[in-house]
Amino acid sequence: MLVTGGAGFIGSNFLDYMVNKYKDYYFICLDALTYAGNYANLNNVIDADNFKFVKGDITDVDFIDELFKKEKFDYVVNFAAESHVDNSLKNPSIFFNTNALGVKNLLDACRKYGIKRFYQVSTDEVYGDLPLDRPDLMFKETEVLKPSNPYSASKACAEMICQAYHRSYNVPIVISRCTNNYGVKQFPEKLIPMTITKALYDEKICIHGDGTNVRDWLFVMDHVKAIDLILHNGKDGEVYNVAGHNELTNKRVVETILKKMGKDKKLIEYVTDRVGNDLRYALDTTKLETELGWSRSCNFEERIQDIIDWYTNNKEWIEGIKSKEYLSMFFAKN
Ligand SMILES: NC(=O)c1ccc[n+]([C@@H]2O[C@H](COP(=O)([O-])OP(=O)(O)OC[C@H]3O[C@@H](n4cnc5c(N)ncnc54)[C@H](O)[C@@H]3O)[C@@H](O)[C@H]2O)c1
Repeated sequence: MLVTGGAGFIGSNFLDYMVNKYKDYYFICLDALTYAGNYANLNNVIDADNFKFVKGDITDVDFIDELFKKEKFDYVVNFAAESHVDNSLKNPSIFFNTNALGVKNLLDACRKYGIKRFYQVSTDEVYGDLPLDRPDLMFKETEVLKPSNPYSASKACAEMICQAYHRSYNVPIVISRCTNNYGVKQFPEKLIPMTITKALYDEKICIHGDGTNVRDWLFVMDHVKAIDLILHNGKDGEVYNVAGHNELTNKRVVETILKKMGKDKKLIEYVTDRVGNDLRYALDTTKLETELGWSRSCNFEERIQDIIDWYTNNKEWIEGIKSKEYLSMFFAKN
């Protein structure tokens, strides 16, 4: 199984689960180790007999072709992406290059060398947003896509390419769209690890606008288990929503974390809103629950203390990111 972007947040949690669960599978993690990829995220699996790390870029056509030719993958799970909306507003090109063309390269290789399943990890952001005053509305998989920013547009592009390769060339693809994940090993540019790491050092925590935008929060291990289910039991060409059903305003998320950490709300600083900032995301997960028997294991309020504890007890991980030490760790080992 090829796992691209496995040194990132969700990919590394996925590998922690899968490498241990499927001892008879062999896993190759391919990652370009961009600023968001962290070799230290692979600590739990790096010495496993059924695991290997390869540094490489999904946009490099020749490299991808050689890798597929050599390894003859049964499964590809694609997490590799540029994933930060703010960066996409500043530099859209790299988002379309990695998130769309990179997927096309992977699919070309799947087509050429054959594959049992190509799994594209997508996002709820491809739907666009919902109004704040209609909490009854939720996106279903059949909704028309209406992305709001270059990041979500690049992810929607990737989905369209997957669907086209399925229809035209019979590549067995499957897609899932998830809401915001939270858990351990997330790069501290994202709201939850940013809040915890800043609060640990009593630094200011920025919230866009007035903080009333609503996001749904999905525990990363619930997402990982959904991917395992969809990968093995989902239907070719289908799309599955995955959500935590924990809708919270950004303000509420930050205040909850600060309260649990015993920190003052005065650390919060409200800054100019992101252009085109989506108001609310919410997904209907009936399909995943009824067809594949998935359910979430916990809610945000129950789980967040464990996550805070992990970041608090792993300050060397945070310091490693600040000093970019994780890059030299990879080169030292190879
Ligand atoms: N984190 C979330 O809440 C969330 C929500 C919805 C969807 N997603 C999607 O899930 C996937 C994983 O997200 P994440 O939060 O783990 O992201 P992340 O930024 O933590 O990790 C992305 C990984 O991809 C690697 N990468 C980037 N460009 C690459 C390239 N050209 N070739 C090879 N590797 C490359 C990076 O080095 C990094 O390890 C992404 O596709 C993202 O769009 C994430």
